[in-house]
Amino acid sequence: MKDVIVITGAGQGLGACIAKALLNSGFRVAITDVSQDKAAAAAQTLSEDTSLVAGFKLDVTQKADFKQALSDVEAYFGGVQGLVNNAAMTLTTPVMDVTAEEFDNVLRVNLRGTLFGCQVFGAYFADKNYGRIVNMASLAGQNGGTASGVHYASSKGGIITMTKVFAGHLAAKGVTVNAVAPGPMDLPIVHELVSPEKLAHLLDNVIPVKALGSPDFIGAMVTQLVSRDAFGVTGATWDANGGLSMR
Ligand SMILES: NC(=O)c1ccc[n+]([C@@H]2O[C@H](COP(=O)([O-])OP(=O)(O)OC[C@H]3O[C@@H](n4cnc5c(N)ncnc54)[C@H](O)[C@@H]3O)[C@@H](O)[C@H]2O)c1
Repeated sequence: MKDVIVITGAGQGLGACIAKALLNSGFRVAITDVSQDKAAAAAQTLSEDTSLVAGFKLDVTQKADFKQALSDVEAYFGGVQGLVNNAAMTLTTPVMDVTAEEFDNVLRVNLRGTLFGCQVFGAYFADKNYGRIVNMASLAGQNGGTASGVHYASSKGGIITMTKVFAGHLAAKGVTVNAVAPGPMDLPIVHELVSPEKLAHLLDNVIPVKALGSPDFIGAMVTQLVSRDAFGVTGATWDANGGLSMR
């Protein structure tokens, strides 16, 4: 039987693209999102074969939701081998205008949600002596970002550090924990948040490869990181930023 991978916030956008890539590579996929309906609809769009993909509710701000989703997915598929912490709030509020409440909300979803995922699934995987966790970080967490807010960028920087902490903690248990750090991707949210004029400027003058990133390629990167033969990669952050940041 093929491994089962849970993805948070996969009802749309990059999470749905990652789900498609995993399915195409033969994984079984649990699509989760804050709304059960959204998760179920995304699962149905990807495949009508309910033995390969199904939707579940998981609000990443609730640790109890991670526990419930883990138990539901395990009962449905008979096991779970991987988690992609993908859910996030992407806000672009100017740096001096971010309120305490907005800051806390973004950190609660992006960073604390990733913490709960690593804790709940990490403990389960450690018990089974096998698991794969991939955390969606961002270029913003490395260089401050191109268009995103201070809360978003800070949360993503925290995710890169958290990835290393859990990678170290779980390494001897057959559990790898890695991050992927994309730059701006060719996704609806980027076109919503960045005006056509600013996007044209970015493509002409700022992004070295003069193109937005490919969501399908990020799906392929995640597929590689959750594969059985990726046992030697842990605590890493894989960059995919069009040359915006080199290290
Ligand atoms: N789009 C980009 O260019 C880009 C670049 C770098 C990193 N990323 C990262 O990729 C991931 C996906 O981004 P996207 O562009 O698809 O964003 P998106 O806003 O299109 O999708 C985010 C998803 O998260 C879900 N979500 C929000 N709050 C939630 C909660 N509390 N619990 C569960 N789900 C919740 C939403 O319902 C939505 O389905 C994020 O981690 C983002 O930071 C995206």
